[in-house]
Amino acid sequence: MTESERDELPTGWPSGPGATRTIAVVGPNPAMDRTEEIEHFRPHEVNRAAVSSPRAGGKSFIVARALRRLGDDVTLYGFLGGATGSYLRDECARLGIRDRHTAIADDTRINTILVDERTRLSTVINEPGPQVSPAELRGLTTALATDIRSGDLLVLTGSLPRGADDTLYADLVVLASQRGALSIVDAEGETLVRAAAALPWAVKCNLEEFLAIAPDAPERIVTEDDRRRLVTSMQSVARWGIQLVIVTLGADGLVAVTKSHAYEVVAAAVETKNATGSGDTFLAGFVSACAAGSSLPQALQHGAAAASANAAVLVPDIGPEPRLDPLLRRTRVRRLASAAEPSVAPR
Ligand SMILES: Nc1ncnc2c1ncn2[C@@H]1O[C@H](COP(=O)(O)OP(=O)(O)OP(=O)(O)O)[C@@H](O)[C@H]1O
Ligand SMILES: [Mg+2]
Repeated sequence: MTESERDELPTGWPSGPGATRTIAVVGPNPAMDRTEEIEHFRPHEVNRAAVSSPRAGGKSFIVARALRRLGDDVTLYGFLGGATGSYLRDECARLGIRDRHTAIADDTRINTILVDERTRLSTVINEPGPQVSPAELRGLTTALATDIRSGDLLVLTGSLPRGADDTLYADLVVLASQRGALSIVDAEGETLVRAAAALPWAVKCNLEEFLAIAPDAPERIVTEDDRRRLVTSMQSVARWGIQLVIVTLGADGLVAVTKSHAYEVVAAAVETKNATGSGDTFLAGFVSACAAGSSLPQALQHGAAAASANAAVLVPDIGPEPRLDPLLRRTRVRRLASAAEPSVAPR
């Protein structure tokens, strides 16, 4: 990393030899995603699936699986119960994910994806998730309080199960700060608002989610002026004391802002099969590079390349041997000189 690259880094950025940090991912509401492939899906009738395949789902499992695919060690936290919970514990063992989920009495949810083989259109039914008791909630906090050390990277991602308060991520952000760990929040609505107010190290959300913490941000990015307004809103949020604010824009890439710098990433164009989970896969690629001591622009590029790889396949997964090099070459990072005057700078 050059000296000028070091100057641009958010406070706390892992750098230098031994930059590798422990990566912990909290996903309180994981799921078994069950895909039912039906030759011709007919609502209000009995349908027969030709193929029925389960996979570990929910945001935390997408992030953790992608991290494993990229060669990183990862520990998962959240709640697991019932037969679906056992399935997800087996998946942790199979994928080499360290399983620190809290056992719960209620059943982990199943999300059903009905795919019409003719049209390739899908119908998704997401269950609300289990009811979690106060004692089980304390179990999650205790597991993290036991494990988290200074310099660890803590990713908090996805929706909350019933029984969990909107302040759950905010409380875990405070715990991470007290321990000197770097927290990254990917959430929405009130959960995001509360977590952002607790000043995590970084926030990563999509534009629609970002509007919950920055109502003045533009709802769509069409013109350069929209982009400037987005950067200005993101800088306001960074000034609260959040070191890094990342807003993803689907196929259009993303914008990242620190207290002193702003970057735009133009995503590598791919033939999109299913972009669901691209934000989660961005997080995995970003955190992986961050833990390895890459520069900020490199980590953004690595995350975006992994995210493009995810968009190019049908299920949220970059596969057992992801080949990111061709995508990295086509993922462009631009430094924006200031909110008022974007300009191109070499990577
Ligand atoms: N169609 C696409 N083609 C190439 N890259 C894509 C595409 N869609 C998304 N990406 C990449 O993935 C990143 C995250 O995508 P997006 O903004 O859709 O995240 P998200 O809404 O958080 O997704 P999810 O929550 O389902 O994981 C983008 O910044 C971009 O780099
Ligand atoms: Mg997302």
